[in-house]
Amino acid sequence: MKTIQDYIRTIPDFPHKGIMFRDVTTLFGDPRGFRIAINQLLHPYAGQPIDKVVGLEARGFILGGAIAHQLSVGFVPIRKKGKLPGTTIEQSYTLEYGEAIVEVHDDALQPGEKILLVDDLLATGGTAEAGIKLIERMGAEVVGCAFIIDLPDLGGRAKLEKLGMDVHALCQFEGD
Ligand code: PRP
Ligand code: MG
Repeated sequence: MKTIQDYIRTIPDFPHKGIMFRDVTTLFGDPRGFRIAINQLLHPYAGQPIDKVVGLEARGFILGGAIAHQLSVGFVPIRKKGKLPGTTIEQSYTLEYGEAIVEVHDDALQPGEKILLVDDLLATGGTAEAGIKLIERMGAEVVGCAFIIDLPDLGGRAKLEKLGMDVHALCQFEGD
């Protein structure tokens, strides 16, 4: 029986030389792979009160939409700056080279709501941390952060756990 990891394609030297790109499109494109990934991502949270799923652009939208549907809750996107039409709040974060900004509609979450944050990959944790900050600035509470892939050598899990987060990842690639 194939594991989650078996559905993920690795493309060497993308987007830069020396990077092993973990490509989840092959997982998303497989009916069994996609189904077990969604089921495993939401499994720890299925019995818990969740008010909304928040997905991080871009692959977090694909996962988050399916999970929100399965949990019968709403879905909220956190997008790269400049894509959302309404009034937003912004959060900057550090990339390998330079800074980036993500944003969310300022009325998308209500104080006290319990949020499941979803993305495909946890590397340095910078993107997820920016998402957590946006959610918390709106007075909502992150009850879990769910990812397909954790790259433990890049320290994201440790960073999020230090913030008191529950981190759930379906597989790890070491040495990335
Ligand atoms: C990738 C990945 C995560 C993020 C993880 O997204 O999909 O969102 O990096 O890295 P971090 O833990 O070091 O922050 P990317 O920024 O490449 O954008 P995309 O999802 O829009 O392609
Ligand atoms: Mg991303």
